[in-house]
Amino acid sequence: VVSSLRNAPIGVFDSGIGGLTVVRAMLEQLPGERLIYFGDTARVPYGPKSPETVRRYSMQIAEWLVSQDVKAIVIACNTATAHALDVLRESLDVPVVGVVEPGARAAMERTRDKVIGVIGTAGTIASGAYERAIHKLAPDATVHATACPLFVPLVEEGWTEHEATRLIAAEYLSPMRGAGVDTLVLGCTHYPLLAPVIADVMGSDVTLIDSAEETARETARVLGEQQLQAQSAARTQEMSDTSLMHRFVASDAPDRVLAMGRRFLGDTIRTVDLVTFT
Ligand code: DGL
Repeated sequence: VVSSLRNAPIGVFDSGIGGLTVVRAMLEQLPGERLIYFGDTARVPYGPKSPETVRRYSMQIAEWLVSQDVKAIVIACNTATAHALDVLRESLDVPVVGVVEPGARAAMERTRDKVIGVIGTAGTIASGAYERAIHKLAPDATVHATACPLFVPLVEEGWTEHEATRLIAAEYLSPMRGAGVDTLVLGCTHYPLLAPVIADVMGSDVTLIDSAEETARETARVLGEQQLQAQSAARTQEMSDTSLMHRFVASDAPDRVLAMGRRFLGDTIRTVDLVTFT
């Protein structure tokens, strides 16, 4: 594989800022890779939208990323993965990694009794994507899936430790606790930010699966398999200032993305560019 391709950036996208949890995990696990992040803040949320609309948005973003010469695409959004992974894989020439398969695999590795909970947006849960992915790995697993539509706005509002969030989490998650799940997949890229509250509500004997961490691992595996890892020369040259290495783009309100991004990526994110689709 030629080095210009190997040293090309990885395109990462989400409906908004949730995918930055995947970016954070990728920065830790793939420190030599350059990233281009696209947050579709003009059209967030994807959770309540129809599969057709989410597919159209996802395709538009993926084509833009390909026009920026990315070597691979990571769909850092469960809703977009649930609706658009197959079509993106069919129509693009670059490898496409989604968040659902890695999350399902991690859940199967950690579960004791094969009783697994999945939480996500309305679109993700209605798609049945997690049930399919888990049953492909273990047909005898029991899956309890629940949509938690209020979680995304709570995270966007910064209410990650708020008492109201705790009450809402207790309400959403009580059927999961009743069903005796031993593993809970955080099937939305916003949810790792609520992990402390969710862990408190579920209790210490339930393992939480952060699909962001698993997706970064899967991306490393795919790059390795296709010999697409960035080479060390490119790394040392550009590593001196990580903010120059990566590019962050949003389709609306870039300043808001910058403010949210700085909260959990620190100095790695210093500017956010605006890119709009007509
Ligand atoms: N980040 C999206 C996901 O992982 C949720 C946000 C949205 O509804 O757009 O499903």
